[in-house]
Amino acid sequence: MSSGTGTRAGVGTGRAGGKVILLGEHAVVHGTAALAMAFPRGVSVTARESDGPVALEARAWRYRVAADDGSPGGEALRALVAALGVAPCGIALEADVRIPDRAGLGSSAAMAAASARAIASLLAIPFDDDRLFAAVQASETVFHGNPSGLDATMALFGGVVRYTRAGGATRLRAPGPQVVVASSGEPGRTGETVAAFARRLAAEPVEGRRRLAALGDLVESGTAALVRGDLAALGRTMDEDQEHLSWFGVSTSRLDRICEVARRAGALGAKLTGGGGGGCAVALVQPGDDAVAPALCDAGFEVVS
Ligand code: MEV
Repeated sequence: MSSGTGTRAGVGTGRAGGKVILLGEHAVVHGTAALAMAFPRGVSVTARESDGPVALEARAWRYRVAADDGSPGGEALRALVAALGVAPCGIALEADVRIPDRAGLGSSAAMAAASARAIASLLAIPFDDDRLFAAVQASETVFHGNPSGLDATMALFGGVVRYTRAGGATRLRAPGPQVVVASSGEPGRTGETVAAFARRLAAEPVEGRRRLAALGDLVESGTAALVRGDLAALGRTMDEDQEHLSWFGVSTSRLDRICEVARRAGALGAKLTGGGGGGCAVALVQPGDDAVAPALCDAGFEVVS
């Protein structure tokens, strides 16, 4: 489990991880399940006492916001501390980010979760898991409007998880499968794609509902396949998932191209991961595969894990 990592006088630290969604993104917002696993890299935050408003800086992303600056990031930070019950002043947060931004890998939730843990560590307040989850959700709501809670759950708790809005997370007794994650080179647009998915569902309710149910079924069959170690079956569910996500308009031609290149190079299945509209795609590969990542690099895509 990711966690706060300690306190010295006037300094607190916290860490949280990213995530890779294997199946069910977007549909999970509308009540069906998703299957996700922890991304190996994440965000570490150091919190120090300050004289100004609560502020957050991540130099690697050239990102600097303060709770009173009127930016979405500042608003998200304000929402985070409000949900923690902390005054929006007197804390400076500095983030060491080891995860790409706007890539569909849960960077905003990881940033919020690591910040919440660093604040808890600085102030020596042992927030419980529900409070931390509520705080990350408050921050995510500013960025994404209607977050399912999947990203907050993965940032805080990691693991290999089946998640629903109503039932929360169930940890699976299965190791995360070997995947290759590649970037489309376009920034992800989760807020916009979540809205676009809902618009398509409203515009074509009969077909949209059919596909939503199909996405839910794919999560159930893909999860069962993962648990019994049937990677070929899991891969097929990922390919089908991608077809539905494309119909909902949240893929892009570059994400489609990553999937095509990965499958040709031997991937068992491939799809966009996270919000789409840019960001990354994930390819499921055989254990020990060494063909898919080079094929994606040769095709001009950056492999991020
Ligand atoms: C974004 O990482 C995942 C989405 O399903 C949104 C959400 O679950 O809140 C697109």
